[in-house]
Amino acid sequence: MKVLVSFNFLFFICLLQKIVLSQDKLLLVIEHFRHGARGPLKNSYDYQQQTYMAGELTDVGIFQQYQLGSQIRAEYIQNRQFLRPYFNHTEILVYSTDVNRTIMSAYAHLTALYPPGTGYNISVTNQTLLQTPYQNAIYYPIAGGYALPYGMSVFPVHTLPQQGSILPHYCPNYNLLIQANIKQYGDFISNLNAVCNDLYQEVADMINEPINNLQDLMNFEDVMTADIYQQRKLPPQLTYDQINKINILRAISWFVYQTGPVAKALASNGFNFIIQQFKNKINNNSTLKYIVLSGHDSTLSRQILQLNMSNHECQWQRYLNKPSQSLNCVDSPRFGSTIIYELYQSAADPTQNYVMVKYNNQYVYLCEKQSTKCELQEFISRLQYSSGVYEDLCGIISDKNIIDDRETLIQFLAIITVILAIVTALLGYSLYKIKQQSKSQIQYLQEHQLQSPLYNQSDMSRYVELHNMQHNQQQINQPQQFQQQNQQEQQQYTEQGYTQA
Ligand SMILES: *[C@@H]1O[C@H](CO)[C@@H](O)[C@H](O)[C@H]1NC(C)=O
Ligand SMILES: *[C@@H]1O[C@H](CO)[C@@H](O)[C@H](O)[C@H]1NC(C)=O
Ligand SMILES: *[C@@H]1O[C@H](CO)[C@@H](O)[C@H](O)[C@H]1NC(C)=O
Ligand SMILES: *[C@@H]1O[C@H](CO)[C@@H](O)[C@H](O)[C@H]1NC(C)=O
Ligand SMILES: *[C@@H]1O[C@H](CO)[C@@H](O)[C@H](O)[C@H]1NC(C)=O
Ligand SMILES: *[C@@H]1O[C@H](CO)[C@@H](O)[C@H](O)[C@H]1NC(C)=O
Ligand SMILES: *[C@@H]1O[C@H](CO)[C@@H](O)[C@H](O)[C@H]1NC(C)=O
Repeated sequence: MKVLVSFNFLFFICLLQKIVLSQDKLLLVIEHFRHGARGPLKNSYDYQQQTYMAGELTDVGIFQQYQLGSQIRAEYIQNRQFLRPYFNHTEILVYSTDVNRTIMSAYAHLTALYPPGTGYNISVTNQTLLQTPYQNAIYYPIAGGYALPYGMSVFPVHTLPQQGSILPHYCPNYNLLIQANIKQYGDFISNLNAVCNDLYQEVADMINEPINNLQDLMNFEDVMTADIYQQRKLPPQLTYDQINKINILRAISWFVYQTGPVAKALASNGFNFIIQQFKNKINNNSTLKYIVLSGHDSTLSRQILQLNMSNHECQWQRYLNKPSQSLNCVDSPRFGSTIIYELYQSAADPTQNYVMVKYNNQYVYLCEKQSTKCELQEFISRLQYSSGVYEDLCGIISDKNIIDDRETLIQFLAIITVILAIVTALLGYSLYKIKQQSKSQIQYLQEHQLQSPLYNQSDMSRYVELHNMQHNQQQINQPQQFQQQNQQEQQQYTEQGYTQA
């Protein structure tokens, strides 16, 4: 009895502490989630029977995002009263990659935050103002004085380009960067393949497809997971234990292939954006309170890696049922997983700001300390990247890079001048030669009505056309060589150039 009382007392003290601490002011929330359940993307098992759903958000996926949005509503609107209970453009900013499933996920998510009944009311009384210029338009009454039926809201969801955005997935060097990781972690991967070979063979026998390595297994995993969420039939022999193992291997796969330069390349813009939003907020230069990024397991995994929230080593210990020394060891992003960044202002010292990050509603340790708080300045110093990191690592030559480098520009211009001079001289000479020759040829062709379109053009444009053809051929050849080298690997990691799933 006494124990129970003192326990309760302790609990009360903890609660009090929590309340005092929570007076720190929440300034900004940035949420980065993965879309909900989708159809499969990899060609394995029963993929061919459901190609019409490839990569598309399913009913369950929509439901999951509504559930996730409802959690956010409960916490940030109802409990903490941080956001208004209805949509206001001054406090919310929404970005999505330009993919159906992420755009739809964003809408389902926001629908939960601002459910029917919270939408705009009609504020005017003059009925004339409610009409459109459409001739003979029929009036559709809406009950309750709302702008939309049931007081629904609509949301501005901005889509992001594939190249250079805050969640980019265009990266010409992608396969090279992955290859570098495969090389660096070669021993780890071959040991893993050896240990897991029995599992590979068991699954291979069930689905009648070769499974020789982790990537092959991941192709099956993609379809298996999509099938599970659609209650499609799995291979009957597949056990719960095997599914569990495959899921841990999925985390290992994400965290070993995407670590280091890959994560840095493709997460740097996102972190620079987050840090810029934090800075704007503390500089009193932003009314925003909630920013949404609707992304993929790839975009989340890279942030997880850069934040040291997980790694392949600790996942491997998990697979082997062994303890791990890792500060954090979160799972790879399942459908509807979410990373939430919170920016706070200290109550004790309002000039002090700190960041907290939670993954699927669990705060993680930050900045290599056993603390869920990281001072904003330290967060910035660890995660702010110099501009151009994405372009440099991904091998994107931007106009900006060329102009920035004046020396290169001058050299470039000098070379161009020399080439132009040579070309002009050669052109002049060949023009003279061809004119002499073609006089007789044209006469002959005209007589026999056999003129080809090329002969109708001037010699100059003929030259340019031929030159362009050669040039284009060279441009096409280069990536082809590169692609052939990496074709096998590329198929493993990208879907028609997508680096996301
Ligand atoms: C949205 O927020 C702004 C700034 O706080 C406020 O002035 C405006 O009235 C709000 N709009 C609605 C529709 O609530
Ligand atoms: C989006 O949906 C359209 C229409 O169903 C489809 O044609 C397209 O392939 C989808 N694209 C992506 C990127 O999801
Ligand atoms: C619409 O009107 C209702 C009832 O007057 C009110 O409670 C609600 O806050 C209004 N909604 C908005 C978005 O202004
Ligand atoms: C309603 O709005 C229309 C269009 O602006 C205007 O012509 C009309 O006078 C208004 N009616 C009233 C009663 O204010
Ligand atoms: C921030 O700016 C608003 C106007 O934009 C002003 O009313 C407010 O006092 C400012 N707050 C601080 C702390 O500077
Ligand atoms: C304030 O925010 C705007 C829009 O985000 C940005 O363009 C501007 O540079 C910021 N100003 C300062 C002083 O940070
Ligand atoms: C993650 O850990 C590495 C050392 O392994 C460190 O250099 C880096 O700053 C850490 N990143 C964060 C965000 O704590």
